[in-house]
Amino acid sequence: MKKLMQAALCALLLTGTGTSAARNATVSLHADQARDTISRMIYGQFAEHLGSCIYGGIWVGEDSPIPNTRGYRNDAIKAVRDLGVPVLRWPGGCFADDYHWRDGIGPRDKRPTLINNNWGGTKEDNSFGTHEFLDFCELVGTEPYVSGNVGSGTVGEMAQWVEYMTSEDGPMAKERQANGRKEPWKVKYFGIGNESWGCGGNMRPEYYSDIYRRYSTYARDRAGNRLYRIASGASDYDYNWTETLMKRIQPHRMDGLSLHYYTVMSWDDKGSATQFDERRYYETIGKCLEIEPVIERHIEIMDRYDRNRQTDLLVDEWGTWWDEEPGSVPGHLYQQNTMRDAMVAALTLNVFHRHADRIHMANIAQVANVLQAMWLTDGDKLILTPTYHVFRMYAPHKDAVSIPLSVACETIKDANGRPVPTLAATASRAADGSVAICLTNPMLDENCEVDIALPDAIPSKISSAEILTSAKISDMNTFEAPETVKPQAFDGAKIKKGHLMIKMPKASIVALTLR
Ligand code: AHR
Repeated sequence: MKKLMQAALCALLLTGTGTSAARNATVSLHADQARDTISRMIYGQFAEHLGSCIYGGIWVGEDSPIPNTRGYRNDAIKAVRDLGVPVLRWPGGCFADDYHWRDGIGPRDKRPTLINNNWGGTKEDNSFGTHEFLDFCELVGTEPYVSGNVGSGTVGEMAQWVEYMTSEDGPMAKERQANGRKEPWKVKYFGIGNESWGCGGNMRPEYYSDIYRRYSTYARDRAGNRLYRIASGASDYDYNWTETLMKRIQPHRMDGLSLHYYTVMSWDDKGSATQFDERRYYETIGKCLEIEPVIERHIEIMDRYDRNRQTDLLVDEWGTWWDEEPGSVPGHLYQQNTMRDAMVAALTLNVFHRHADRIHMANIAQVANVLQAMWLTDGDKLILTPTYHVFRMYAPHKDAVSIPLSVACETIKDANGRPVPTLAATASRAADGSVAICLTNPMLDENCEVDIALPDAIPSKISSAEILTSAKISDMNTFEAPETVKPQAFDGAKIKKGHLMIKMPKASIVALTLR
């Protein structure tokens, strides 16, 4: 019977003839089982030398008419600070394994202009280099995550880069000081290559394991700076890559192992970011949610070789990947961002919360003007995307203790047979005792009435309530209408007789705080 109902609902959705009915769901909070802290690093970002992510999106140079502080655009500084970005990954991506750090130090007018071979053959003038990146991180209060070059760089080059950034004395420290930076920077997160199975060198996992051991040996800890070394991990379903690295690299040599998972339908047919039908929408949600079984399988492999869990999992690239916007520069991966992207962000963050015991960091790709961006720029204009708003609404979960929960709701199937539950939820308790609950109703045609029985241990006063929704799932912010999609105060949540009752409109994300 249930199967029949699901099939009927699926057909209804895919033909787009649904009515605005209301559906019910209940959420049970298991506050007594709350144990794992959601690392704030899960809210990390990624900034690659790709298109206008760095150049235009963050860096405009000191002489730019765009208001800036030492060359960083002021509106980008504000956006990062307001969001409280905990960590920023740089300089790539694929660019990292083509990047020679010496090109980006010293007087800017003496730095070489090269070609960005990975991304559209654009000119790279190296005006944004090591000093500019690490100073930006200090300015906005974010931790740097630097990816080293193992694809086309030598062991010595990587070793010297680490020394240049983090040593107090010696020849590299002197060179850094001559370039204007007296004290070493603190650099904890250091990647040993990126996508070494692909753009980072097309290596086999056996070969990369040895390369990792060799390069990481010389990426040394310097006085007061302990590196957290990250191995270049698998792409989505490549379990053999994870298995081989876990087998061949001892966990104590590898603080983190990365995983890349993009919500992309097919590499040959990614589809438009802004024009899509219901069928494509649900396929997107199904594909996005498939990250959970993928993560679980990688963790299961890691656990077999690392019972003491010395190596963390880092999803250091994730997000939606659509066709480039018509008229944008080919190879720059510029895409718009709609309420559908907001849904993907919320649903994926929920998954990371559920695996807080093993996932230490995640970095959405990318922070500005590339893929599922936080903001888009056009000259002196900057607009915040729906995805930015989700990250802001979810902020109370950072460093809070994840509260396990179960959701009783119907599940439909997308056109590929992937499950899509009709309600998703996540909850956590902050150090001050407040509890944050975020709910997502991914259904395009049905509102949802949610009932959450509040255990004694959960505070029973709603202290803040916000909703992100829009008339159409394809709604977006544009330079002409920058506030089409933005959070609003929400009055659809009430507490009655120990139950939190929420009336969620269709296609909406609600964030509540209880005190
Ligand atoms: O984020 C864009 C690209 O996607 C990155 O450079 C690469 O690591 C991945 O394939």
